Amino acid sequence: MKLLTQEKINEIRNSVNIVDVISSYVSLTPRGKNYFGICPFHDDNNPSMSVSPNKQIYKCFSCGATGTVFNFLMDFEKIPFNEAVKKVAELGGIHVDIGNIKKEKINTTQHQIYDLSLKFYINNINTTQGKKAKEYLHKRGINEVIIKEFQIGLALNSRDSLSKILRKKQFKEEELTKSGLIGKNEYGFYDLFYGRIMFPLYDLNGRVIAYSGRIYDREDNSKYYNTRETELFKKGQILYNYHRARDIARQKNQIIIMEGFMDVIRAHSVGIKNCVAAMGTAITKEQASLIKKMAKEIILCFDGDEAGAKATKACAEELNKIGVIPKVIRLEDNMDPDEYIIKYGKEAFERKISNPISIMDFELSYLKSGKNLNNAEDKTLYIKQIISELNKIDDDILKEVTIRKIVNETNIDEEIIRNHLVNKPKITKKTVTVNLSKYEKAEKNLIYFMLKNAEVIKMYDKKVTFMPTKEYRLLAREISAYYKEFGNINEANFIDYIEGDTELLNTIKKINQNITSEKYTIEEIEDYISVIKEYNVNTAIERFQSKMQEITDPIKKAEIAQKIIDLKKGV
Ligand code: UTP
Ligand code: MN
Repeated sequence: MKLLTQEKINEIRNSVNIVDVISSYVSLTPRGKNYFGICPFHDDNNPSMSVSPNKQIYKCFSCGATGTVFNFLMDFEKIPFNEAVKKVAELGGIHVDIGNIKKEKINTTQHQIYDLSLKFYINNINTTQGKKAKEYLHKRGINEVIIKEFQIGLALNSRDSLSKILRKKQFKEEELTKSGLIGKNEYGFYDLFYGRIMFPLYDLNGRVIAYSGRIYDREDNSKYYNTRETELFKKGQILYNYHRARDIARQKNQIIIMEGFMDVIRAHSVGIKNCVAAMGTAITKEQASLIKKMAKEIILCFDGDEAGAKATKACAEELNKIGVIPKVIRLEDNMDPDEYIIKYGKEAFERKISNPISIMDFELSYLKSGKNLNNAEDKTLYIKQIISELNKIDDDILKEVTIRKIVNETNIDEEIIRNHLVNKPKITKKTVTVNLSKYEKAEKNLIYFMLKNAEVIKMYDKKVTFMPTKEYRLLAREISAYYKEFGNINEANFIDYIEGDTELLNTIKKINQNITSEKYTIEEIEDYISVIKEYNVNTAIERFQSKMQEITDPIKKAEIAQKIIDLKKGV
């Protein structure tokens, strides 16, 4: 990037208030000079993230995440630096030509095709030709409000109505065929969707990128026909209803995952709006991490049948891999959430949501089904399977509770189970650095204050020593260089200045962990510097001492001895 000058980048950054931008993602409460909220970059319940309107940076006291509004957007939205700059410029009303981002350029025509098709399908369902489709939806309890909100449309029962319209718009042939809406054979272009109620599928920002079309008045091999994977539509990267559910899920700190989008629409229509659907396939790593970011409490509410139980298990495993332990709801009589809500109503479903079972309880009953625990073989298999499940999770309390349960249930010796457990390293909470050596602490503190005060940089520059730890040394050097160039220090400007250097930024994150103080004294800084000096001298002495043992020449030995004495005097 770096097409823009540092000044322009600063101007763009200053055109918005970081507090306004972050508060559209995380709820912030003012406390003193700063604003506090729950850090979205690690697993937390406490408001450890502070946002400073004065400094225009955010900082998490728990995981150390820090940066300017650009870093926040990059990490949160998973976008590159230039896109973050563009976004902020737009918010701030600054015109910049950062060059069109490649991805957007490729997709514009495809987006146009989809936007047009959506208008067309929505129009169809409101004409006389849409009467039967409407009847079908109304009979299913999907009223006009929901039809409108979910932009439900209709592909007519003809094989070229969309093709004709798009052809008139002069789209290139290959643009049409690669959209996944139009096919081509020796007779010409034809619609891939026909005679189906069209449910638009959206990208994470709410733009239509695909459809799922349901039959409603004819027989067909497949109940739903979905757009194939295209340039725009990557099934494993989206979740149905993500853009509508995201903010509500964050507020409630709870997200419900369902199998089908009809389930989500139903729940939404009765006011339960924190739901998304994986749409009938196993969830991917990308989807799992999207889910993880949405809320702390994650509830899997799949279909009540055997396939739904399997899907629950698969989904839980994918989530476990990234340290998430979901809760589970099982619905009776093979019902799906849609059917359950229709049959028992909103309140009954809400009671289900308020009483989810733990993932281990789900596993226990899942593994037990079809087994006879009075039969030795079944019982052995059951215990082995549970141990393997226990080894997959890293929630200590849940583990203990489950061990207790199976001991009671099977009368197996507790020790046997414990002997089969492996201690998995924790992957959720980042542990705070333990036993920081006094030297590292001095290095960290020194840089921490260098980032805030030119005075400290000057003191560091004057000192006759260097930081012993490489990453701190590099960062300190960069800060000094910045100061030399601009004659001042501003943490936000500096962070943008080192943009692209993730190592330096990670070092800053590390430094920000556990340090919250804003004030320092000159003595304190001098103290850090002398601690660092002492460390360097001591390592030099050690080096000379081991050298002395290696050599035999008495004169050289004496020389080195003198060096050691000099060094010791200097301390
Ligand atoms: P379900 O069969 O559970 O759908 O499939 P549903 O939500 O109950 O739908 P209705 O009530 O019959 O209308 C769950 C998901 O699997 C995908 C769809 O995305 C659906 O939402 N699916 C299902 C298909 O893609 N194709 C199919 O033929 C069936
Ligand atoms: Mn259904």
